[in-house]
Amino acid sequence: MIKRPVLNNAQGRGASVVDNGNLIMVTSSLPGEGKSFTTINLAISMAMELDYTVLLVDADVSKPSVLEILGLPPSKGLMDVLVGREPELSNVLMRTSIEKLSVLPAGMPHQNATELLASDSMNQLLEEMASRYPDRVIIFDSPPLLVTTEARTLATHMGQIIIVVEANRTAQSAVNQALTMIESCPVKMMLLNKSTDTNSASYGYGYGYGYGYGHEKGESVEGSERAQAA
Ligand SMILES: Nc1ncnc2c1ncn2[C@@H]1O[C@H](COP(=O)(O)OP(=O)(O)OP(=O)(O)O)[C@@H](O)[C@H]1O
Ligand SMILES: [Mg+2]
Repeated sequence: MIKRPVLNNAQGRGASVVDNGNLIMVTSSLPGEGKSFTTINLAISMAMELDYTVLLVDADVSKPSVLEILGLPPSKGLMDVLVGREPELSNVLMRTSIEKLSVLPAGMPHQNATELLASDSMNQLLEEMASRYPDRVIIFDSPPLLVTTEARTLATHMGQIIIVVEANRTAQSAVNQALTMIESCPVKMMLLNKSTDTNSASYGYGYGYGYGYGHEKGESVEGSERAQAA
């Protein structure tokens, strides 16, 4: 459900054409809401599609986690390209066991990470990424919006942003504050994560939708309730 609208926007098949729609950032208000979990799962799921090649960028440069979660060894990456230690982007891209998924690691931590992400070199790099491979979806794992300025800087380049919200923990005021920081992005989507509420309306809807009211193998939740009431 999350992947489809994102891919449609990335390929210009959404309701309107989105500039740089193939640059997608996953962020959140606060730490630990599930950004990396969401980014990695989305990237893998997109790479399984027939028509898409995916580049997963670990842009959480002060607290990178993508390589470790994927079981890949530490490696040079984004920061090394931005400071000129590594002249070629293609030298630091890593392949994964999924054919159409490659990873750009965060690289060496740098004290001027925010400035580097806001630099002309970063602009050029993003421009190169977005235009050189228009059929490629580039998905960025990023830091939380309310804790550092890096995510805000990165957000200005993105065509689409997914804001992960941890259910029953993150306050509405924090989410609203985070939203004001990414106003310029044309497409913003919210993802409620870690919800344990199995009685929510969406669960009932999903179940009922999947099996249908009065399906031959049994009725939906709503169906049986109605039958009992009758
Ligand atoms: N939907 C989920 N179901 C189960 N576990 C989850 C889910 N989303 C996140 N987690 C777990 O929650 C923890 C935090 O997730 P994750 O590292 O993705 O958050 P993050 O927002 O990237 O954190 P940080 O701000 O530190 O980078 C991890 O242990 C992760 O496995
Ligand atoms: Mg993370």
